[in-house]
Amino acid sequence: MKTYEEQFKNSIEHPEQFWEEAAKGIDWFKPCDQVLTPAPQYRWFTGGKMNTCYNAVDRHVKNGRGNQNAIIYDSPVTNTVTHITYNELLEKVSRFAGVLKALGVEKGDTVIIYMPMIPEAAVAMLACSRIGAIHSVVFGGFAPHELAIRIDHALPKVIITASGAIEGKKTLSYKPMVDKAISLSDHEPDNCIVFQREFIKAELDQEGDIDWDQAMADAEAVDCVELEATDPLYILYTSGTTGMPKGVLRDHGGHAVALHWTMKNIYNIDEGDVFWAASDVGWVVGHSYIVYAPLLKGATTIIYEGKPIGTPDAGAFWRVISQHGVKCLFTAPTAFRAIKKEDPKGEFYTKYDMSGFECLYLAGERTDPDTYHWATNLLNVPVIDHWWQTETAWAIVANCRGIEQLPIKPGSPTKSVPGYDVRILDHEGKEVGANVEGNIVVKLPLPPGTLVTLWKNKERFNQSYMSTFPGYYETSDGGFIDEDGYVFVMGRMDDVINVAGHRLSTGAMEEVIANHPDIAECAVIGTEEKLKGQVPVGLYVLKAGVERDEEEIRLELVKMMREQIGPIACFKEAKMVKRLPKTRSGKILRGTMRSIAGGKAFNMPSTIDDPTILDEIKDALLAMTPN
Ligand code: COA
Ligand code: AMP
Repeated sequence: MKTYEEQFKNSIEHPEQFWEEAAKGIDWFKPCDQVLTPAPQYRWFTGGKMNTCYNAVDRHVKNGRGNQNAIIYDSPVTNTVTHITYNELLEKVSRFAGVLKALGVEKGDTVIIYMPMIPEAAVAMLACSRIGAIHSVVFGGFAPHELAIRIDHALPKVIITASGAIEGKKTLSYKPMVDKAISLSDHEPDNCIVFQREFIKAELDQEGDIDWDQAMADAEAVDCVELEATDPLYILYTSGTTGMPKGVLRDHGGHAVALHWTMKNIYNIDEGDVFWAASDVGWVVGHSYIVYAPLLKGATTIIYEGKPIGTPDAGAFWRVISQHGVKCLFTAPTAFRAIKKEDPKGEFYTKYDMSGFECLYLAGERTDPDTYHWATNLLNVPVIDHWWQTETAWAIVANCRGIEQLPIKPGSPTKSVPGYDVRILDHEGKEVGANVEGNIVVKLPLPPGTLVTLWKNKERFNQSYMSTFPGYYETSDGGFIDEDGYVFVMGRMDDVINVAGHRLSTGAMEEVIANHPDIAECAVIGTEEKLKGQVPVGLYVLKAGVERDEEEIRLELVKMMREQIGPIACFKEAKMVKRLPKTRSGKILRGTMRSIAGGKAFNMPSTIDDPTILDEIKDALLAMTPN
């Protein structure tokens, strides 16, 4: 068994050999002609033919795993636990693929999925992949306006949704939100397939509405199509610095190879093990580790429709782990902070048999040392922080337990995962020494499974990731590497914030505020918050001559934000200021305000037009900082 250092070195010095070996983990209809197409394309497994759905479902049935659980659906909010074997999953997916085919969905067509955490969401994703359609899952916490933006960009032939969801204690109706989104968008999908849930029925009253169950009853099962490894699998929109999200594009072959490889090497998961990512299918963690990776590996995945607390209590995670024999849990630190707040002594934990539980993985935001120590003391298993992004689909930096567990340094997600040549560059693009903070970048080529491009926007792909530091992928995170090679990720360098593990754009929120009729200009800044890590707060300047009550405007802005971005924006605070700090050329100094909000030292920008403004900004930000 090779050590971590040996594997890492091999992956960087001989990437083709390394990933050719990893590619043996999946089934190919035809092997590739070239493992890595050189710069500037950098495509993996060109000429190879395969199908992701075949690898995630069919082959396990062929290999005798048909009676093993593929999915365990655990929904405390509807009081349901359902087991779905690989045999049953194959039946559902191939039939639903038949439903899509019958509606005229072909290879290369796009399909939007807007669903709660139910197995049908995974079935819909796999069915698209089975016929070569490109899915784009949109998180259910986004408002119709955000869904409409994605409809107009992805131009889906079909939208798949459910009648509704239970979010904590609230019942949400999804279908009217989809109808509203379609009415707001220019593009009109041909059909909307609706999975009716027992507790809420949707009116199927729009042209092209279809009932999921009825369509399934009439459908014929269809087989997997043979796809190029480089064919697109999905688009996942993620927040950038503007209101227009970035459509990260993933391919079939590289993604399947990399994700399959990570299950053993990062998470130490074997076929038949139970793996649980407590996230949502609308985020990349859900794509990679609720749906694709565990199924590619032939493991059992949990689809959990609940929260860490309140469904019904702070013992929910321990109940699921003990009831289903979960070996590894993957969640966001914020979930642990929520549990700690409700049950600081971990009394719920002692009620459950946790003997089969081996490891906790955290990602989505930095694991602060307090949360790390609390979780480690409570669980008595390794607590592994790992760092990645929607763009990469899998961890850039982690403690690869399946290869060799390295000593943990709290506050660091450990070392670069094989495949990622992580470096720290200063603003001029020069590499800095140990312990010096700078831009975290990855030397090209990126490993398989990472973003191929941005959907219909190659220019933005180049400009966002590839042009600031030629030859490197720009992560937009800042941090440093210590003398032992441990990477410390300190936070975003741009206008993206992380709220309860959810990636959001302050730029998109500024666009909402800017639409307020009385507001001349504004800035949205992420401030630190104990439970959610960060929350957005707004500063705005009224139009000349306008006089308004600050509290009234705050309430109007909160309403606008909920309606246009969605409740997950967690936007609750806004304050009026006389002016925003700007450079002499008129550019708003957001970086300076971010530093003030984070309580960080900053150098007074030499270009600032009036330094005295910062006192008012500081007071306003302080008044809005929740703790
Ligand atoms: N559909 C509709 N609304 C949603 C939603 C969904 N899928 N998910 C969240 N919301 C709503 C919530 O109901 C809440 O609305 P409210 O303002 O009307 O109360 C709002 O969005 C904020 O939600 P959230 O940030 O989840 O806050 P919370 O107070 O309900 O729960 C935590 C706090 C910490 C328990 C919760 O954020 C959590 O479990 N986080 C884990 C994060 C995670 O899994 N991240 C994925 C990356 S790994
Ligand atoms: P997303 O694309 O939603 O997965 O969000 C990616 C961003 O979340 C990264 O660019 C980081 O800023 C942050 N992030 C994710 N995981 C970690 C981690 N383990 N440590 C620090 N930041 C993280």
